[in-house]
Amino acid sequence: MHYLCVAALWAASLLPIAFAEEDYDDKKSPFKYVIAISIDGLHSSDVPKYLGLRPKSNIAALLEVGYEYTNAYTSAPSDSFPGTLAQFTGSSPKTTGVWYDDIWRRDYFAPGSDCKGRPGAEVEQAENLDYNDTLLFSGGINPDNLAKKVVNGTCQKMYPHNTIRVNTAFEVVRNRGLQTAYADKHPAYDIVRGPSGKGLTVGYFPEITGVPNTVDAVIGYDQLHVDAWLAWLDARTPEHSEGKLTAIPSLFGGNFQCINVAQKTVGYLNGTGNPFSPALLKALDFVDNCLGALVKKLKEKKIYEETLIIVASKHGQAPIDPRLYKKVDPKIITNLTQVPIVSQTSDDIALLFLNKSSDTETAVRNLKAGAQKAEIASVIYGDELKANYGDPVRDPSVPDIIVLPNLGVIYTNSKTKVAEHGGFSSEDRNVAFFVSNPKLHKRQIKDRVYTTQVAPTILAALGIDPRELEGVRAEGTKLPPGFKGFD
Ligand SMILES: *[C@@H]1O[C@H](CO)[C@@H](O)[C@H](O)[C@H]1NC(C)=O
Ligand SMILES: *[C@@H]1O[C@H](CO)[C@@H](O)[C@H](O)[C@H]1NC(C)=O
Ligand SMILES: *[C@@H]1O[C@H](CO)[C@@H](O)[C@H](O)[C@H]1NC(C)=O
Ligand SMILES: *[C@@H]1O[C@H](CO)[C@@H](O)[C@H](O)[C@H]1NC(C)=O
Ligand SMILES: *[C@@H]1O[C@H](CO)[C@@H](O)[C@H](O)[C@H]1NC(C)=O
Repeated sequence: MHYLCVAALWAASLLPIAFAEEDYDDKKSPFKYVIAISIDGLHSSDVPKYLGLRPKSNIAALLEVGYEYTNAYTSAPSDSFPGTLAQFTGSSPKTTGVWYDDIWRRDYFAPGSDCKGRPGAEVEQAENLDYNDTLLFSGGINPDNLAKKVVNGTCQKMYPHNTIRVNTAFEVVRNRGLQTAYADKHPAYDIVRGPSGKGLTVGYFPEITGVPNTVDAVIGYDQLHVDAWLAWLDARTPEHSEGKLTAIPSLFGGNFQCINVAQKTVGYLNGTGNPFSPALLKALDFVDNCLGALVKKLKEKKIYEETLIIVASKHGQAPIDPRLYKKVDPKIITNLTQVPIVSQTSDDIALLFLNKSSDTETAVRNLKAGAQKAEIASVIYGDELKANYGDPVRDPSVPDIIVLPNLGVIYTNSKTKVAEHGGFSSEDRNVAFFVSNPKLHKRQIKDRVYTTQVAPTILAALGIDPRELEGVRAEGTKLPPGFKGFD
């Protein structure tokens, strides 16, 4: 039924390139289509490691006609909505208001409530929203599972797309009368539709908890996304989609999960350079073959020259070196503070919401005193938090305290995880980011860039001014080096 992405090596297309470096002018020569793919978990450092093993891979071929940004950083935090929204809004949590997939928000109320009493509720936007999260096709979002908020004086159910404060590239493209599509791991990725709720012509959201959490099962899962992308390139809409296409989407996006799962369940090997484990290499080969299948399809449709391919990971994963791995019970953090905490999101980071923000200084003093016990590297709060991430006293989405552990430490009680993501370390943030099109001249760009710069790249590539994105305006997000026309 499902074929696994067939290897399509295009060594024959590796022509020697001897042009001068010149920035691509999107305004003079826009693309007709943009494909934006996240290889969740893929580090910048994984790319040369992979090319060392697979010099004739599809990724190698993409880079022959592409820009590789080797010093690209995700938003912080980046798990997983903020990592996605960085790429499609051009902004970070302080602007989007979306800090994590599962996070406290001081102005929300619990699902099923009547918005009475003291506000503040966990807003979890993952498989928990589905009608039935044991099913691959879970029935979509059950509105009864949505957290609520008082909007315009009434207590309303908040869909994920209602929880974001700025518009998305999908909305901007739809506003031009063009079509869009997106595939990701839960129906909750409704969030990319943006505040209007109208950003997607088609959403395709098989529920990942409907398959076992193994590399092989998730490769099968990812194949569904790839099948959808290939169908979209025929202007077809796969079964179980939300919406219907009548043309090839001008912008489509999606992600791969298998590398993330391989990193979290198997990981890298000890030893010089931390080689890929066989499971991780298998996942990489799968992704590489799928990228080849995508290019093959673009060529068949004769739109390869008109399509900008953007590959950027939503997030990385830490630790890379298994010897640094250590887990710490999240309750140790809670207890250390010695103040009442209403909510704590824990991964390779801990975000604390205190019952009273005025307890912050006390909590921080106690955390610092117990830093060794909890493997705390540093704590962000107060002026530093306010200056860079938002003010917890004024913004109901901003945590009071961000706890950053030593590299490799995960605040978890999980028995199976060997890595996590979302944190602030460079292993969490320094991700793979490259763009490819036969009109681009091969470049490796070492300047520091951010995955928020994906959003302006998408719009500029389609000939649309990136400043139509509120997040781009709010944060002054620029096109990355290599592109011009909208500066
Ligand atoms: C979810 O689907 C499974 C498999 O069909 C079924 O056994 C289960 O009863 C369903 N759960 C709910 C809450 O409907
Ligand atoms: C709230 O009211 C304003 C003004 O009438 C309207 O534009 C907006 O769409 C309303 N928002 C919701 C979520 O109902
Ligand atoms: C790596 O080394 C650590 C500690 O020396 C050991 O516990 C672990 O099993 C090793 N992992 C792998 C993947 O070899
Ligand atoms: C946290 O404190 C509670 C209450 O004092 C105690 O029962 C629990 O064992 C502590 N947990 C950890 C991990 O220290
Ligand atoms: C949290 O704060 C509220 C309001 O100030 C107070 O009523 C409640 O007792 C506090 N809860 C705890 C556990 O301290």
